[in-house]
Amino acid sequence: MEHPLLFPELPELLSPARIRQTGDEPVWTENKAQLVARYLYYFAFITRHGAYIDGFAGPKRPDHPSSWAAKLVMENEPRRLREFFLCEIKARKVGYLRELIGQQPRDPGRTIELHEGDFNRSIHEILASGGITDKKATFCLVDQFTCQCRWDTLKALARHKAPGSRKIELFYFLATGWLKRALPAFTRNTHVPEAWWGREDWRSLVDLGPYSLMEAFRVRFEKELGYRYVAGWPIYQRQRQRGKIMFFMIHASDHPEAPKQMNRAYRNIMKPRESEEQMLLEFPELAE
Ligand SMILES: C[S@@+](CC[C@H](N)C(=O)[O-])C[C@H]1O[C@@H](n2cnc3c(N)ncnc32)[C@H](O)[C@@H]1O
Repeated sequence: MEHPLLFPELPELLSPARIRQTGDEPVWTENKAQLVARYLYYFAFITRHGAYIDGFAGPKRPDHPSSWAAKLVMENEPRRLREFFLCEIKARKVGYLRELIGQQPRDPGRTIELHEGDFNRSIHEILASGGITDKKATFCLVDQFTCQCRWDTLKALARHKAPGSRKIELFYFLATGWLKRALPAFTRNTHVPEAWWGREDWRSLVDLGPYSLMEAFRVRFEKELGYRYVAGWPIYQRQRQRGKIMFFMIHASDHPEAPKQMNRAYRNIMKPRESEEQMLLEFPELAE
């Protein structure tokens, strides 16, 4: 007899070989942007509106626009997300973002702000501008390379809305695949990993394996940032036969639907997206 999962919305961490036995494909690094966009499709279906903040928005691979999260999210249909805040520090990448914004159809109901500079500064301008109200469903993508997002930035995001409101939802990239090599390389600019981890004991992370590293962050998202639902989703490198985990995407939300929809996005990433009609069969109360 099959046992139902105790917490079906939490990720089941399977090796790629086991995932194949279950019939699911693992999520490969090149599908990361699709995963973000697919989740945002479900998010906006349920919230019917929303704001999208992308802290590290420039394309990693400008020659592969289909692997660019900001582009895919912006071009999701229907266009339910109304406010976009795109942040990027490198002038060349800002150029790509300008081009992307220029390609968008005219839509008076949608605003797109481009913030050039360090996200750890821009976020304070964005939050202070008054656009993200307590009632506005808001999602923030933190697609850093390694240690670029300060812990203080996560605190500002988590504390922005009044107590009792649903906090700004987060997708946080944790580069477990290369942190073991990257962290010891900080011999001079030690303030960088310290600000990223937000504590002086960042060197202790070097001894942790990928799952323990993810768990160390996951617990802090719950306990220190106060998110109700936090889970780490593994993203695998396809080239390695055994499928090394390159990073975890830590998803933090206060909305009870969020982990279920994330599970749906992760497991169905290689399958065609459900139509609005199919989604409405599941959520008839959302019919307009
Ligand atoms: C991993 S890439 C983002 C990939 C992108 N999300 C995609 O889907 O292709 C990280 C981006 O963040 C930018 N970046 C690095 N440090 C930053 C900072 N402190 N503030 C804002 N952007 C930063 C880099 O220039 C780079 O374009």
